[in-house]
Amino acid sequence: MGEVSLLINGIYVKAPVGSTLLEATRLLDLEIPTLCHHPDLKPEGHCRLCVVEIGEWPHTRLVNSCTYPVEKGLNVQTHSDKVLEARRLVLELLLARTPKAELIQKSAAALGVTESRFKTEDPEELCILCGLCVRTCREIVGVSAISMSSRAPDKQVATPFKEPSEVCIGCGSCAFVCPNNVIPYTEKNGIRTIWGQDFELVACSACGSYIAPLAQLEYWARLTGDPVERYLVCRNCR
Ligand code: SF4
Ligand code: FES
Repeated sequence: MGEVSLLINGIYVKAPVGSTLLEATRLLDLEIPTLCHHPDLKPEGHCRLCVVEIGEWPHTRLVNSCTYPVEKGLNVQTHSDKVLEARRLVLELLLARTPKAELIQKSAAALGVTESRFKTEDPEELCILCGLCVRTCREIVGVSAISMSSRAPDKQVATPFKEPSEVCIGCGSCAFVCPNNVIPYTEKNGIRTIWGQDFELVACSACGSYIAPLAQLEYWARLTGDPVERYLVCRNCR
């Protein structure tokens, strides 16, 4: 794969063709704050916290570094006044949306933002609409049991029609990846409950410890072509 040379904060850096500005900044160990970026997921540019300024003054503009591809000779500023102002605005909006979310409080404080000029609709809201759960379900698990429903300001993550999803396998990956622990997930007496649906956990046929919901084991069996019996024994007992 070829490389392109670009200028980041006045320093020339060579980055692989097809990589993003965020990846290029990391070659210089620069700290760019992100909320919706995950190295294993396709970037979608939801949070806009990773903005950087590109181009030559006075014709510069802000772009999401997590989605913008490197370009030969591009001039990039990662911490200009314009960039910091934009990031503070994003954090002010998020502070208003999720005033109790520790992650947002910390990210905001790191940029000197301690309060917001914007109105809080729901003081208990914790979802920052990063989309990590939806993308994990779709791209990693491969079932698309949840999605972003409605448009702003009522946007939220939900199952279709907020009913138990027919395709959810109860794997809990969405809850695991959520940076704010928003997705209700419980396990009690061999039952995992998630997205308003109960999943009976299968106990290992050898040691009796719980493995995963049957729906998840059956899904693995379908994906791999293995008989489901192979997954009825936990890894330690195989
Ligand atoms: S539920 Fe969690 S992972 Fe999903 S969008 Fe909200 S904050 Fe992000
Ligand atoms: S990390 Fe780039 S838009 Fe969220």
